[in-house]
Amino acid sequence: MDINNQVIFTFMVWVMAGTRVQVEGNMCLKPEFYQNMRIGEKFLGEPMVFYQAGGLLDCYRQCGFYSLCQSFNYNVETRQCELIALNNSITEPVINNIIMDVPNRENQLFGSCENHVCPNNTVCQVEGLTHSCVVVGCHGYPEKQHINITSFEAKSLWFFNETVLYACEAGYYPSRNVTCSLTGTWPAFLCQPFNGCEKRSMCGGDATADGEYWIFASKMDSWVRAYCSAGNHAEYVTLYGLNTFSTPIFLKDPITCVQVPVTPKLPPMGYTHFKKVRVPFSQQMIDVDNFRYSNSSSIRQNFGSAGDCVDNDVNDTNSDCGLIGRFIINTNGTGLRIKSSVTWETWGVGGRVGNITRSQDGHRIEGNCGSVVGCGGCKPTDLLIELDPNYRPPLDSATLFKCKAPVPIGHE
Ligand SMILES: *[C@@H]1O[C@H](CO)[C@@H](O)[C@H](O)[C@H]1NC(C)=O
Ligand SMILES: *[C@@H]1O[C@H](CO)[C@@H](O)[C@H](O)[C@H]1NC(C)=O
Ligand SMILES: *[C@@H]1O[C@H](CO)[C@@H](O)[C@H](O)[C@H]1NC(C)=O
Ligand SMILES: *[C@@H]1O[C@H](CO)[C@@H](O)[C@H](O)[C@H]1NC(C)=O
Ligand SMILES: *[C@@H]1O[C@H](CO)[C@@H](O)[C@H](O)[C@H]1NC(C)=O
Ligand SMILES: *[C@@H]1O[C@H](CO)[C@@H](O)[C@H](O)[C@H]1NC(C)=O
Ligand SMILES: *[C@@H]1O[C@H](CO)[C@@H](O)[C@H](O)[C@H]1NC(C)=O
Ligand SMILES: *[C@@H]1O[C@H](CO)[C@@H](O)[C@H](O)[C@H]1NC(C)=O
Ligand SMILES: *[C@@H]1O[C@H](CO)[C@@H](O)[C@H](O)[C@H]1NC(C)=O
Repeated sequence: MDINNQVIFTFMVWVMAGTRVQVEGNMCLKPEFYQNMRIGEKFLGEPMVFYQAGGLLDCYRQCGFYSLCQSFNYNVETRQCELIALNNSITEPVINNIIMDVPNRENQLFGSCENHVCPNNTVCQVEGLTHSCVVVGCHGYPEKQHINITSFEAKSLWFFNETVLYACEAGYYPSRNVTCSLTGTWPAFLCQPFNGCEKRSMCGGDATADGEYWIFASKMDSWVRAYCSAGNHAEYVTLYGLNTFSTPIFLKDPITCVQVPVTPKLPPMGYTHFKKVRVPFSQQMIDVDNFRYSNSSSIRQNFGSAGDCVDNDVNDTNSDCGLIGRFIINTNGTGLRIKSSVTWETWGVGGRVGNITRSQDGHRIEGNCGSVVGCGGCKPTDLLIELDPNYRPPLDSATLFKCKAPVPIGHE
């Protein structure tokens, strides 16, 4: 007896054993039944359900009861029955295994479930002369925007309490855990755009590293590139050009206009360079006194401000020396710019707003400010921002968050 004959022999034994399952009506199997069967092969791919069968016919019947089942693997030795939902043509040779397509439910073996049209997420259950469709899980995906269809389709049948790990497409997170409910439906949820760094904590996975991310700024109705860091939930924008602000450590002599270094420095004097700037996108403006990503010498200068001091020990009521406080704002390359409606106002004693120039493209704003009698200068009114109409950072210059559902403790 060669191996194949042995398998066929064993198989026939199991076919007989299969008749032990309850079969209603007469047990006359049509020739088509055998045409759909191949011995010594196994379908590859993820089975929908594993089942410890009583025999080949039991496995065949189980497949027929599952609305989604298209074919199955049956191991004659272990009686392991693997129900497969997909039309699968890729097989590998496996001794002791039988594969079979179950293209229809036209067989008396199915009893009153013969030719049933139960919904996809159910199993047909024989109930005497009638049948019922018993919900066993969830199938398919909800009609919603921005869901990750691939993720829902990764399994034909999701069992109760199973959670879809990546329910939304990149850039979005689900408003709740997308877990198959006991009624076989997906819960009501929305895929919401990540609109802030702190939303990363809603998700598991690895979206916690420091770096540039795409954030949806609803006020501007657009995705913007922002810097998120692990230890901080605030959004920053990385600056590429020079952004420098000063109240120089000099006193202007109001008569000679000579700039004299001073010690001790007067309270407002200092220099600050910003490398990143805090932008609360919900307010659509720059936070001028967040210095997390700046370096300063002496007193920190607010973003957008400048000033200088006149030596008011020398009594001159209105110095006409130049204004030596200087500011440069450069948003080039960020995809954002300062709104043209922003103006500068004075601060301190004798503050003056000097010449302020704005480049044609709006990327660069610079100016000189200072005082004519004491220490003063200029500062912007609310530093409102808008999208740069001429430049959008490339898609690959920042990461779109991928939200992975948190895995319950003890289930990794
Ligand atoms: C599966 O394949 C069979 C033939 O191989 C075909 O008759 C049937 O329509 C297919 N079913 C689906 C759902 O594609
Ligand atoms: C059942 O599932 C099949 C295969 O996924 C699909 O073609 C069919 O439209 C589904 N039927 C319903 C009612 O969802
Ligand atoms: C699903 O979870 C609920 C609540 O945690 C529990 O009561 C139920 O037994 C679970 N059902 C299944 C099939 O795991
Ligand atoms: C979408 O789902 C697939 C399959 O689960 C996964 O590999 C992919 O990373 C998901 N995409 C996102 C953006 O989560
Ligand atoms: C900030 O640091 C850079 C070098 O890292 C230096 O060139 C610059 O002068 C510093 N700016 C201030 C205001 O200290
Ligand atoms: C400057 O002038 C004011 C009056 O305008 C006077 O009160 C003050 O004493 C003068 N200071 C000096 C240092 O001369
Ligand atoms: C602005 O004014 C300062 C002195 O107040 C002067 O040195 C500078 O050249 C002026 N810049 C422009 C662009 O006019
Ligand atoms: C703005 O940035 C781009 C690259 O991001 C650079 O090519 C360009 O020269 C910059 N323009 C100015 C005025 O700095
Ligand atoms: C989602 O599931 C995780 C793990 O079971 C749980 O910690 C978390 O609270 C759930 N989130 C929501 C919004 O229900």
